[in-house]
Amino acid sequence: MEKDIIILGIESSCDDTSAAVIRNGVLLSNVIASQKVHEEYGGVVPELASRAHQQNIVPVVDTALRRAGVDRKDLSAIAFTRGPGLLGSLLVGVSFAKGLALSLGVPMVEVNHLQGHVLAHFVREGSKGSNSSYLREAPDDRQSRAKDSIPLCPVGTCLRNSMRATGSQSQFQIDPQAAGNCFTPTLGEESKKEVPEFPFLCLLVSGGNSQIVLVKAYNDMEIIGQTIDDAAGEAFDKCAKVLGLPYPGGPWIDRLAKQGNPEAFVFAKPQVSGYNYSFSGLKTSFLYTLRDLMIAHGVNTVDELAEQMPNLREDLCASLQKTVVEILMKQLRRAAKEYKINTVAVAGGVSANSGLRAAFEDYGKRYRAKVFIPPFSFTTDNAAMIAEAGYWKYQDGDFCPIDAVPYAKTRI
Ligand code: KG4
Repeated sequence: MEKDIIILGIESSCDDTSAAVIRNGVLLSNVIASQKVHEEYGGVVPELASRAHQQNIVPVVDTALRRAGVDRKDLSAIAFTRGPGLLGSLLVGVSFAKGLALSLGVPMVEVNHLQGHVLAHFVREGSKGSNSSYLREAPDDRQSRAKDSIPLCPVGTCLRNSMRATGSQSQFQIDPQAAGNCFTPTLGEESKKEVPEFPFLCLLVSGGNSQIVLVKAYNDMEIIGQTIDDAAGEAFDKCAKVLGLPYPGGPWIDRLAKQGNPEAFVFAKPQVSGYNYSFSGLKTSFLYTLRDLMIAHGVNTVDELAEQMPNLREDLCASLQKTVVEILMKQLRRAAKEYKINTVAVAGGVSANSGLRAAFEDYGKRYRAKVFIPPFSFTTDNAAMIAEAGYWKYQDGDFCPIDAVPYAKTRI
């Protein structure tokens, strides 16, 4: 009988600490601890993020193993995000992976975070439903995760509250009530999910990246277009900040956009070469539109302006979202046409955006293309995608040395 391939994935590139276990290509558990601590600063504070990762990593990994019903001694390899991301955050995951791999005598598999996002489309979950757990809720789209979520909590505390010290095999034990509904699928139960066929194009859109990736195989990807300045998620977040919305602003823009008129405002669209993107001009255009409206209405704040224009925020959000989606889809369409590729996928945090998801569905119908939109649970950072990428690299024998160091920036 062939030995099971069991991969533990660890993700800590930004402000989510996550661990996941995959056995023979089937996801057994995926635990994510998000960090609410950054909200009051309007963005991720790197030093706070790495401290929170330090607090979270042991209980998160422990929970992922327990939920998977896997003993750490049975792990085949430890896959971890080596970069790109915040160095201090990455360092926590990389160091933990090294320590665990050394103590167990198993190989380490380094994963490029961006490749992980692309490979999220290949994660196979068990047939009984999702087995991801979230330790913090965002305002809008993460509602869909409610059945697996643990209530809103300050950084780290919620996970710890859901456990109690046992003193036996492990320091922690999950309190089933706090931990919610989770399960461990058995092999053969996995859903027969359709996955993209190679080659395909993946639009990778997050807070830090906006790229079009030509995916030739699990371990062979090429960036054919990318932002020359800001990422799409950053544009959403910065414009939301100007409107006085909380961080991260993307989900708030999405929510308000549903009640607004997408034709109310016209913003500048970039003219960039190739399949590249640019969003800094759009941000400026958004800011100047608001400034001009304030001057015209003789007011000094967005709140004062909103009193005179009751649907102001909704209309601005709808118009901004429409513009971002149009920019993203235009370049993707060009690339698909010129590369003669009829399968397109979307990945990354911004792929949770309802306007973008609708545009992908529309693209599929209009061009008779196969489109792949990830479940909400795999849009933001998670270790399931890291374990998935690790699973394929493991089978290629693509291991990394114990002295591997994290990297902040890289190409795929
Ligand atoms: O991939 P991700 O979770 O993390 C990093 O980039 O590190 O992406 C986060 C980004 C943020 O900019 C956030 O505002 C955006 O994804 N985002 C959204 C939505 N949900 C998350 N943007 C627009 N609409 C959404 N529904």
